[in-house]
Amino acid sequence: MKCIKVSCEKETEDLGSKLGKIVKPGDIICLIGDLGAGKTTFTKAFAKGLEVEDYVTSPTFTILQEYEGRIPLYHFDVYRIEDVGEMENIPYEEYFYGDGVCVIEWAELIREILPKDYIRIEIKYIGIEEREICFEATNESYDKQLEELLR
Ligand SMILES: Nc1ncnc2c1ncn2[C@@H]1O[C@H](COP(=O)(O)OP(=O)(O)OP(=O)(O)O)[C@@H](O)[C@H]1O
Ligand SMILES: [Mg+2]
Repeated sequence: MKCIKVSCEKETEDLGSKLGKIVKPGDIICLIGDLGAGKTTFTKAFAKGLEVEDYVTSPTFTILQEYEGRIPLYHFDVYRIEDVGEMENIPYEEYFYGDGVCVIEWAELIREILPKDYIRIEIKYIGIEEREICFEATNESYDKQLEELLR
């Protein structure tokens, strides 16, 4: 695991957009962090890096939002899920194991059904503009991507 302290929103965005530039089809990015930590801010920049042109901040009740980019972006926000069984209402496996890249806000709420491997990004609130962002990879391929992102 590697943690970085950022001191403003732009630094979070730079990390997001850089990751968006290096991800590959099938990649899974799990975002963890409290309300207002910066998960959507990170995702928005990630979308930009992925060349998504029509990103809109989705209403909180939208669990899945799909975007066209360099590769398709499937943006999940599962905050409203009370039971992981509710995920059966969407064909999530088609997305998790598809050719796009999945970004999952509040991924810990659906831990049981997450794919085996993913990049885990935890954003912790430190101060009004300061955050600590911790990156973790579950396999070697994701490890290489993180090395490229953080070097
Ligand atoms: N360094 C920073 N990184 C990210 N966001 C920051 C930073 N500094 C300030 N902010 C502000 O913090 C807020 C983060 O909100 P955001 O919607 O991204 O959080 P979130 O984690 O998605 O919350 P939620 O769980 O409610 O969806 C924004 O208003 C953003 O401007
Ligand atoms: Mg959010």
